[in-house]
Amino acid sequence: MSHSPIDKNVLLIGASRGLGYALAQEYLKRGWHVVATVRGLNKTKLHALMDISDGRLEIETVDITVPEQITGLRERLTSRRFDLLFINAGVINQPDGTVGEVATEEFVRVMVTNALSPLRVIEILQDLVLSTGTIAVMSSGQGCVANNVNGGHEVYRGSKAALNTFMRSFAACALVSAKNDHMKHIASWSSQPWTSMAVRL
Ligand SMILES: NC(=O)c1ccc[n+]([C@@H]2O[C@H](COP(=O)([O-])OP(=O)(O)OC[C@H]3O[C@@H](n4cnc5c(N)ncnc54)[C@H](OP(=O)(O)O)[C@@H]3O)[C@@H](O)[C@H]2O)c1
Repeated sequence: MSHSPIDKNVLLIGASRGLGYALAQEYLKRGWHVVATVRGLNKTKLHALMDISDGRLEIETVDITVPEQITGLRERLTSRRFDLLFINAGVINQPDGTVGEVATEEFVRVMVTNALSPLRVIEILQDLVLSTGTIAVMSSGQGCVANNVNGGHEVYRGSKAALNTFMRSFAACALVSAKNDHMKHIASWSSQPWTSMAVRL
């Protein structure tokens, strides 16, 4: 992969497959240095990408639902600084159903993964992001309350709506405390790509 390196660094959380993998590919294509995470020790397609990345892709491990793993990642990356922290990791409930039908454990799994954990990652890793940098999460159009005219995927929708609210609040608090300092750009992104999750949505 011979693209001229540029002096930009991204930490991409949840990149073993799907959109996260595609983002890793794209940032490499644009010459960035990429630190991307997977869960566990199994080889993923990201590992194959690392092999052809000219050393510009490093793979880290974190399960964002395990706070000790997030602090472990923070400690391993303590000397590093990033232009972009992008939390892409997310799940959808299985099987789909109304809010009342979904098993409590499944409801909790989706909410903890999609809404609580991204904010934990941000709060723990935010100091690794340059003051001129960006903190972003992968939200979803399905998290938009006003656009919900068809219903369906309620638990997933609820988790992304909660994520949007938490991000809005995080940004508001950061603005209040930033005063005249440089403030990091804080963003929720949504997408409509064709991944294994998109097939289920
Ligand atoms: N696909 C769409 O149509 C669509 C539309 C809007 C928004 N989104 C959002 O975009 C993001 C990616 O979607 P996708 O379609 O690419 O999904 P995907 O193919 O199912 O990939 C999900 C990624 O998140 C990782 N992940 C899941 N739980 C995790 C955890 N607890 N800790 C760390 N990593 C975890 C997965 O790792 P493993 O391989 O270990 O499971 C995988 O790398 C999600 O946040 C999703 O909600 C997707």
